[in-house]
Formats: sequence, structure tokens, C-alpha cells
Amino acid sequence: MTVDLLIHDASEVLVGPDEQLLEAASVVVEDGEIVATGPTAEIERRYPRENAAQTIDASGQAVIPGFVDSHTHALFAGDRSDEFAAKLRGKTYQEILAEGGGIHRTVDAVRAASRETLLDNLLAQLDVLLAHGTTTVEVKSGYGLDLETELRMLEVIDEADDRHPVDVIATFLGAHAVPRDSDADEYVARVIDEFLPAVADQGIAAFNDVFCDEGAFTVEQSRRVLEAGAEYGLTPKIHAEELARTGAAQLAADVGAASADHLLMATREDAEALFEAGVTPVFLPGTAFGLDTEYADAGMFRAVADEMGVDSPAIAIASDLNPNCYAQSMGFASTLACVGMKLAPMDALVAATAGGARALNRTDGLGTLREGAPADLAIVDAPTAVHVPYNFGVNAIETVIKGGRVVH
Ligand code: NIG
Ligand code: FE
Repeated sequence: MTVDLLIHDASEVLVGPDEQLLEAASVVVEDGEIVATGPTAEIERRYPRENAAQTIDASGQAVIPGFVDSHTHALFAGDRSDEFAAKLRGKTYQEILAEGGGIHRTVDAVRAASRETLLDNLLAQLDVLLAHGTTTVEVKSGYGLDLETELRMLEVIDEADDRHPVDVIATFLGAHAVPRDSDADEYVARVIDEFLPAVADQGIAAFNDVFCDEGAFTVEQSRRVLEAGAEYGLTPKIHAEELARTGAAQLAADVGAASADHLLMATREDAEALFEAGVTPVFLPGTAFGLDTEYADAGMFRAVADEMGVDSPAIAIASDLNPNCYAQSMGFASTLACVGMKLAPMDALVAATAGGARALNRTDGLGTLREGAPADLAIVDAPTAVHVPYNFGVNAIETVIKGGRVVH
């Protein structure tokens, strides 16, 4: 049988959740999909090497699914590197935001940037993400906070998706911060009455997200925004329990959000409510690392998932790439998930792949290398997948394949 691509003799292949890890394995790709993953001897019998249009010798290398980064603010303009130093001198994230810095500074820069600049910026970020093994990424708006700029951000996200091999999924985050010159309730009313109908009409965003936290939006305001978005077919997502425990996780459960993200302050009851409602908890260890705060208790979430019999992958990790957490690498996020959140290396890798797909409500096998899944994969320049979190501070990914094509 002829096939498009045969990746043969990998020392290890991470097939998917449930710690399915094959040694001495090969992967077969046809029409952009995985058609077989299995022991090399068996694969060679069914798919002789000479019948493959392209072959990759992965001897001494591990193959993993491409990373699915389910939470980023990868589209921005300007530079906030000075805030890194200020935070190290003891300024908190909330203080910077309250002084009109943080998100507000990026809003100023994004409003002032041309469409071309924004597109160039995002395409450059996507190049870095791809080189580090990410093949699907969610990107949020939220640095416009006015209708025109929010729509422009979503348009740029859509165009970047068309132009770049990385799949880009758009999320509307109108309720990211209260604009400096506005009152919170008045702004929320505008998001609901003006922004959401226009965003729905534009047809680009799949998700509707809210920053529900101290210094941002209350649970009650967030509920209004998420329920209004759902009426337009936009699936809720939420920034929950990051800086303070507000009840945002419970709200995520109530509105049937795809995911609840951050969760640093979340309790056991929050974990139970999320799993009960089928909401995927997303952990962003890079943010805790960058802010030098405590990490979310992912171990507690894992234990609750096990007790409740939640199918793997119960949880996701994501990069949270943004000017406050300037880290594109999901490999580094997986290192932090291990060291900071005490996840086992394989759990971290599954959370970064199949977990990310779950946080985006994908049910097509994305984030796995199972038969029928999209052929999105990364070849690690080391003999085991564990090298990705283990070998930190460098990029362990050598080759990236998207939809069956070698793209890096
Ligand atoms: O997920 N928490 C809110 N949003 C981002 C930070 C955005 C920014 O500071 O520019 C986050 O961490
Ligand atoms: Fe965020």
C-alpha cells in the first residue's frame, strides 16, 4: 500500500492519553491523517518503506503529538520588558495594572498599530511556536477593548491562520480589562449589546472568554458576558481563580465552559464542580513562574479526577504567552508543570497535547497519534519523550509535521 509519509524506527512514540507509549515504533501518514502507529516490525510489514512517498528516519528519536497550546494572548504590540524588572523589585501585577500599565499599555500599542504590523507580529510569534513543536494554538483578542480594535485583532488572527501552517483558533476576550476611561458595568453592557453581536456577525471567534478576577470583572459581570456570548453560539472560556478566589470556577461549571484557566486559588470543591460539569481545567505554570507566585495545585486536580473516574486527559497545560508571561515554548511549560506543579513528566506531556485539545472541545483525535487523528507531530532530538520537560532551557524539538507535511 502506498502512503504519503512513513516515520520509521523511532525509539519511542507517545500515542496519547492513558500513558500509551510505544517503544521501537513507526507512524504512517496518509491524506493529512495518521493511518497507523505501531511497532516498527509490524508497520514495515504492512507499509513497506519503498511504497512511501516520503520517509523520515527517526532512529534514536522520540515522536510526540504536536503541542496544542489552548491559552495564549500571542497577538500584541509594544514592549513590556521593563515590567519584568519592576515585578522583580516587588511591584505586583495588580499594582502595575491599577497604575495604567500592564494590559492597558498593550491596549495602547495595539490600538496604535497598523493591521500589517499586527499581522507581522502574530506571524513571527507563530514561527517561534511552530519551531518549538506547537501545531495548534488558541489566540485571544482583548487588547483592543473597543469594538473596532477587537474586530481587527480577530481579523488578523483569522488571516494568520490562513497564512501559517500552525492552526490558529480565535477567542473573543472583550472583557479582558475595564478600559481606563470606563465604568465596569457600563463597559460590560457595551460588550454585550455592541461587541458580541458584531463578533458573532464577523464569524471568526469560536470562544468567548472573560478575565474574572479581583481588579478585572466580577462573577456577576462575567456571567452576563458568557451567557450573552453563548446565545450567539460562542463557547464560554474563563480566566478563573488566578489572583483571588472569586467563584469563577463555579461559574465556569454553571455555564458549561470549555475550560477554566489559571486556577491558582482553586479549591477541591472547585475541582469537583469543574469535572462534574465536564469543564477542562487549564494550568498556566509559566505565569506563576514569571510572577514568582505559588503554582496551581494540579496534583490535587489529578487526584480528584482519579477519584471521580474522569477520562484521561483530565487536565491541560498551556503557555499563556503574553507580554506578562513571555514564553512560547510548551516544552518549557511542561518542565514547569513537572517542577512547579509536581506533575509526572508523561502527565505533563499529555496535558500539553491531548489535554489542550480537550480544552478546545476537539474530539477528532487532535493531540494524539491514534489512527484517524490529524497528522500533527513533533520529533524530539532525543531518545525519550521525557527529554522535552527534562532538557529545559533549550528546544528539544527537531522536526515538526503539520497535516502530514514537514513544516519545520
Ligand atoms: O492570562 N490574566 C489576564 N490575562 C493575561 C495577562 C495579560 C497581560 O498582562 O497582558 C493572563 O495572564
Ligand atoms: Fe490569559
